[in-house]
Amino acid sequence: MSRSAPLLRTKRELRALVGGWRTRGLSIGFVPTMGALHAGHAALIRRAASECARVVVSVFVNPLQFGPGEDYGRYPRALAADRKLCAAAGAAAVYAPSAGEMYPEGFRTHVEVEGLSQLYCGAYRPGHFRGVATVVLKLFNQVRPDRAYFGEKDFQQVALLERMALDLDVPCRIVRVPTVREADGLAMSSRNAYLSPEERAAAPTLRAALAAGAAAARRPAATPASVTAAVRRALAHGPLKLQYAAVADARTLEPARDLRGPRRLLVAAHLGRTRLIDNLALGRVG
Ligand code: PAF
Repeated sequence: MSRSAPLLRTKRELRALVGGWRTRGLSIGFVPTMGALHAGHAALIRRAASECARVVVSVFVNPLQFGPGEDYGRYPRALAADRKLCAAAGAAAVYAPSAGEMYPEGFRTHVEVEGLSQLYCGAYRPGHFRGVATVVLKLFNQVRPDRAYFGEKDFQQVALLERMALDLDVPCRIVRVPTVREADGLAMSSRNAYLSPEERAAAPTLRAALAAGAAAARRPAATPASVTAAVRRALAHGPLKLQYAAVADARTLEPARDLRGPRRLLVAAHLGRTRLIDNLALGRVG
């Protein structure tokens, strides 16, 4: 039978374990997650285990980052399987606090990364990034990791968290890990579990639309508008309903006015009741 990573439920248990590692001079890697772990998370954990002496994975479906009518209640929860994946990928512990442990009675403080949290996904999910930044800063304070690992599938999230860490002097290095994809190009996501077989078959069209945008970016006289128009055309007749396509400066995440320098093409689309996001580097770097 496969091994399960030890489970910590409280800040007190976490502090005792991590404090012991710290006293012994061990470096600590951290992978924050909402659980329902897949190969993309395993890649984050493996990377952390290759660079740090001990790895903690948090599994916490954060109510603060879901809006009214979003999928907080039905978000997949699979702690037993998650603990096995964590052990197999090299994690030393899983930290899965309750909502009450994370947000005790009277909780009132939030973290807002101005500007960045209102763009792209933030424009359609008000309060989402405030919830993400708040829980990640709390988790950083609880785990006190040397390095924390985030997937580039959530490109806006990782850029925003880098900004937060810089602005608030968080003594933790944020490491970006490339998106892990299924064989047909679909970016791995816990929300892929929502897709019906028909939707799953159509889902890789999102990656194909990004590729169409990247191809348009290589044409002479291409502009951000011609790139997003190519994405729109690629999705025009299928079941995926585009929410937004945008070209951003890959470093600052500001909307790009031209295609000079590192650029990132970002998209979000609905497939039935499921919202999918993805992104791709345009040009040389990004
Ligand atoms: O990417 C996620 O799974 C979540 O947004 C995170 C970073 C764990 C915060 O809840």
